[in-house]
Amino acid sequence: MAAGLVARLRSAGCVFAEDEAALLLDAARLPEAGAPDGVDGAALEALVARRVAGEPLEHVLGWAELAGRRWSVGPGVFVPRRRSELLVDVGAGLLPTGGTAGPPPVPAVVLDLCCGCGAVGGALLLAARAGGTAVELHASDLDPVATAHAVTNVGPLGGIVHTGDLFAPLPPGLRGRVDVLLCHAPYVPTGTLRTLPPEAREHEPVVALDGGDDGLDVVRRVAGEAAPWLAPGGSLLVEVGAGQVEAATAVMRAAGLTAAVVRGAAEDEPWDEPWDERAAPGPPTADGAGGLVVTGTLPR
Ligand SMILES: C[S@@+](CC[C@H](N)C(=O)[O-])C[C@H]1O[C@@H](n2cnc3c(N)ncnc32)[C@H](O)[C@@H]1O
Repeated sequence: MAAGLVARLRSAGCVFAEDEAALLLDAARLPEAGAPDGVDGAALEALVARRVAGEPLEHVLGWAELAGRRWSVGPGVFVPRRRSELLVDVGAGLLPTGGTAGPPPVPAVVLDLCCGCGAVGGALLLAARAGGTAVELHASDLDPVATAHAVTNVGPLGGIVHTGDLFAPLPPGLRGRVDVLLCHAPYVPTGTLRTLPPEAREHEPVVALDGGDDGLDVVRRVAGEAAPWLAPGGSLLVEVGAGQVEAATAVMRAAGLTAAVVRGAAEDEPWDEPWDERAAPGPPTADGAGGLVVTGTLPR
């Protein structure tokens, strides 16, 4: 079955056909199924038909991997990209190391704005916990389809999910308390949306991709409203494309924040911009994701 499956995926244009075949077989494997290899043939056929028709692998599988963990995603939701692990790493490095007010330690406050399925904020919470830092996580997105996945992903970790436009749905009590404000907003310039790979263009919502004329419309709004929500010394972290660093840095400064740029190790390859991806996102393309983050820090 596997050889035929690989050939079918390859002829549909799946570059990592062997890896995808293994993941799809796994997804259709039922321990109790009567088939000799435990694979439910009808379930497998349904999954493969969706993939061959061009749906992102992650939507078909129902999960995407980020920071070594599987996060629930599905149709109509942005698929987290491995390059966003840089947001997690930079955010983890900026968290206060707890205990500032004596026992019990005050948890660090993380806000994942434009959270999509919530993977970035969830991964930061887990990284912080692994390092002994407790986190109060809030995740927020405009799209209720995305926040339904965020509830599945970060709810069990103790994260609180809000649905609405940027800061609007957040509790007022969060003002002035956010230590790390993660924001992977849409940042593809409107004019280049048509150059995105079909998997993104046809299967991810335009509100998750379209960042306006220069791609920074949402980033500009977030930076402009961030300061009253940040704790003294707190930071806003935005993911941008290589051609947007200068403009994003200026946006941070205009918002009264001290700007810095962090580049992921593999930034030069294999992609230049998210709208010019050479490789499909997802589990089989996990290596060398790179990434680019601009930070803006509020003075203490
Ligand atoms: C590029 S996706 C990133 C999702 C997630 N942070 C991740 O990395 O997987 C951008 C997200 O921003 C959300 N978004 C766009 N405009 C928004 C707004 N005005 N307020 C809140 N969320 C918004 C979209 O719904 C989408 O989920």
